[in-house]
Amino acid sequence: MRNIVVFMVAAVVMFSSALAAHDFPQGAAPYEKSRRCSGCHPAVYKEWESSMHSKSSVHKDPAHSAMYGEFTGSMKDAGKEGGYPCAACHMPMAENIKELMNGTDTPNGNLWREDEGVGCAFCHRAETITGGKDRKRLFTINKDGAYLTSNKPEKAPHAVAANPMFAGGELCMGCHSPVESQSAICLTEEEGQSNCLSCHMERKEGPPSIESAKTDHASHEMGGGHNITALFKALSVNAKVNETGNGGKTLDIEVINNTSHSFPSSMPMRMSYLKVVAYDAKKQVIFSNDKESSEDGNAVFMKASGGGTSFDRRLLSGGTRAFSYPIPNDGVKSIIVEVIYRLFQSQAIISHPALTALKNAGDKEIDANFTIYKKEFIF
Ligand code: HEC
Ligand code: HEC
Ligand code: HEC
Ligand code: HEC
Ligand code: HEC
Repeated sequence: MRNIVVFMVAAVVMFSSALAAHDFPQGAAPYEKSRRCSGCHPAVYKEWESSMHSKSSVHKDPAHSAMYGEFTGSMKDAGKEGGYPCAACHMPMAENIKELMNGTDTPNGNLWREDEGVGCAFCHRAETITGGKDRKRLFTINKDGAYLTSNKPEKAPHAVAANPMFAGGELCMGCHSPVESQSAICLTEEEGQSNCLSCHMERKEGPPSIESAKTDHASHEMGGGHNITALFKALSVNAKVNETGNGGKTLDIEVINNTSHSFPSSMPMRMSYLKVVAYDAKKQVIFSNDKESSEDGNAVFMKASGGGTSFDRRLLSGGTRAFSYPIPNDGVKSIIVEVIYRLFQSQAIISHPALTALKNAGDKEIDANFTIYKKEFIF
């Protein structure tokens, strides 16, 4: 892994220049604060508040903010206007989104529409999405301010309207799909056909609003790499010790991707790896598959590019990977099999000074190894 540099900033420079701001028609009803929904939709509000959608803005997500800083720095070095093109997805409700994106204005944490990130009103007023190569515009927001869903309730104290885009993943793909002909970054690939809601918006107990006759609602937690419950569901791992017939034994492991997209996602800093360590009676290591080196490259699930190296060893949608390790005959008393997930691979932290600084400042998530599977064999 040592030679791989993750060129996130370079990729963002290429890709974001094609994006344009959302269309907020003249005379459209103003956005409402997400907080205003909380009294009548308490369960949904709580879930949203805990999600990365409420923390996506440059003011709330330290890792995003760090990479934005590095992006503006490298644009300046290249003699170009940096701006904050990230706003299209990370801060889509900002009042001055056009100016933020083209760099004539800079983010200001005192403005609530910046602070909200992907707020309730943004998703529920998104009427259409523009796809395709040019993407002159991403979302068009409705003018009358009605809240859109696929299944319009009979009555509500505010305007509601039906929109088929909400039934599956179409709405999500406005921000999560690769922008054609540009570098794919921050995106989830190979998932176009699947319904994002079936996994990311499971039904949860509790009515969707205080006056609703329904007893369950679509969860707005929408967890991914920042959500350990979602991470636990990502893989199925079958690990077994088998006899080889001539007195030997092997440790056989099968790792299956349960998500309907690649694992991890195409966000270039994510990585996961299978860690196998055998110990003797004194808990000394006898064997290790040496996770982050290239010795057992298949045991590392990631996509890498830059520094003259590029490979894609993620588990693709529906993908399975099998491993077989011979167990030494003498002295092995226990073996621990783990799958570790990292939001930011070590090499990405090293190669981006802004992330190194975040790590040194004690940020908890940046350098964390999340154990998403663990099994111990005792001999
Ligand atoms: C005064 C209470 C109240 C407030 C404030 C409120 N809602 Fe509602 N909303 C309701 C009720 C009641 C329904 C109908 C629920 C039902 O019948 O299941 C509803 C329905 C909805 C629906 C349709 C849900 C479905 O069944 O698919 C959406 C979407 C929605 N509200 C979004 C919002 C958003 C976004 C906000 C804040 C900007 C908001 N609401 C603020 C009470 C409220
Ligand atoms: C087209 C939409 C879009 C644009 C534009 C965009 N991002 Fe993202 N970004 C996303 C999505 C979606 C994710 C979540 C990806 C995931 O979790 O796999 C994300 C995640 C990230 C993360 C990881 C954050 C964390 O806490 O784990 C960083 C860092 C990031 N983006 C930086 C940027 C920067 C810097 C820019 C602008 C220069 C930018 N993004 C522009 C959609 C976008
Ligand atoms: C307006 C743009 C936008 C839309 C629409 C959108 N997302 Fe996101 N989503 C983001 C951004 C930006 C992030 C990354 C936030 C960060 O890490 O800073 C994100 C993060 C996520 C994550 C990762 C959360 C985690 O725990 O790391 C999941 C899962 C997700 N979104 C699912 C969805 C689903 C499902 C939908 C459709 C119902 C959807 N998103 C619609 C912008 C969007
Ligand atoms: C079959 C279930 C399933 C479906 C369908 C699904 N996902 Fe996921 N997704 C997961 C699980 C489980 C995770 C947590 C593992 C992870 O973070 O990679 C996840 C993670 C994510 C992440 C964070 C990835 C990361 O590692 O940073 C994003 C973003 C995401 N999903 C978006 C989507 C979008 C958009 C769709 C629809 C096009 C979708 N998902 C459909 C199960 C699913
Ligand atoms: C990332 C986009 C996104 C955000 C942000 C978002 N929603 Fe939703 N919401 C959806 C989608 C998609 C559905 C499913 C609609 C459907 O099934 O037609 C939904 C469903 C709902 C429902 C109906 C739930 C049910 O099961 O009957 C309500 C009510 C609602 N949202 C309110 C809110 C409120 C309030 C907020 C903010 C606290 C919010 N939403 C934030 C995308 C979003």
